Amino acid sequence: MASVLVTGGMGFIGSHTVISLYENGFDVVIADNLINSKTEVLNRLEQITGKRFKFYKVDCCDKEALRKVFEENEIDSVIHFAGLKAVGESVRMPLEYYSNNINSMLTVVELMNEYKVRKLVFSSSATVYGESEDVPFTEESPLGMCTNPYGWTKWMLEQVLRDCAKAYPDLKVCLLRYFNPVGAHESGLIGEDPKGIPNNLFPYISKVAAGTLEQLTVFGDDYDTPDGTCLRDYIHVCDLADGHVKALNFVATHDDSVSVFNLGTGKGTSVKEAVAAFEKACGHEIKHVFGARRPGDIPVCYASTDKARKELGFEAKRTIEEMCSSCWNWQTKNPDGLPSDS
Ligand code: WQD
Repeated sequence: MASVLVTGGMGFIGSHTVISLYENGFDVVIADNLINSKTEVLNRLEQITGKRFKFYKVDCCDKEALRKVFEENEIDSVIHFAGLKAVGESVRMPLEYYSNNINSMLTVVELMNEYKVRKLVFSSSATVYGESEDVPFTEESPLGMCTNPYGWTKWMLEQVLRDCAKAYPDLKVCLLRYFNPVGAHESGLIGEDPKGIPNNLFPYISKVAAGTLEQLTVFGDDYDTPDGTCLRDYIHVCDLADGHVKALNFVATHDDSVSVFNLGTGKGTSVKEAVAAFEKACGHEIKHVFGARRPGDIPVCYASTDKARKELGFEAKRTIEEMCSSCWNWQTKNPDGLPSDS
């Protein structure tokens, strides 16, 4: 049976996408080196779907190890999530980010060529747009003003894939530029489970709401925005997952060698609004103070969703309230995150 290979399929977005793929009739094989996830995710995916997914613990930079996946399965398409993705960490560890994120993608494309796998969906990011006054960002907005090595790896890999699609005429690539994925599956069995102190807003707020962290520091309330705090396009991770199913169907039914889509809601939500929405979801105050701006932050970032709606048939459905309530449900059911691998 033809399968979709989901690299990084045990991660936050990857695991939610595995569920959407399965619910849409796809057979899924997962490859993940567990650097940012835990084996327990496989049990949770089975609890949610009833299916024990085929899982290979493998580093996508290790070509001979990854070859096994292509040898043992009839891989028909790939969704490539595997990669390091913490902006701040990438500034501290540029070599690891360039080496891991670039080499893992190159290895996957080499094996796709060898095994005649022609369809690829790539997990890119709105970070490739960099800072701009001209918002919302469309797929034609200027690229390459990245503010960190993580963003540069996404920008470089988009170029690598464009060149590969030119050189290998049968290869079809869909680049998905995510905005800010948040929330969790309605079961509360899987969700965002960062190691250590969270860098991102929602997991941080969630831990303050749970009392695990003392208070939230809002990084700057003096921006040129309606309430002084930064605007972001938060998109429910389950909407994002559904967008990948649409993208896979798009590459299977269209001749475009390269297609690019923003996956966002088209709405900017401020940090203050996010805090207020989360307070409603959890039923109590989220202690927060206002601190200095965080280097590298841009004031406003949200998506134009026209192209994804018209060409991909994708539209985010879930509200910021559902993002908060599903995040809180995950948090309360898993106060310490998933059990670590022994
Ligand atoms: C959102 C807003 C912060 C934490 C990053 C990556 C992006 C994607 C999502 C991978 C900002 C403010 C945050 C805190 C705060 N990742 N904030 N206090 O930076 O928009 O995007 O994560 O694809 O590529 O760039 O997300 O959640 O870190 O920040 O005030 O403790 O919340 O200043 O305005 P960001 P974020």
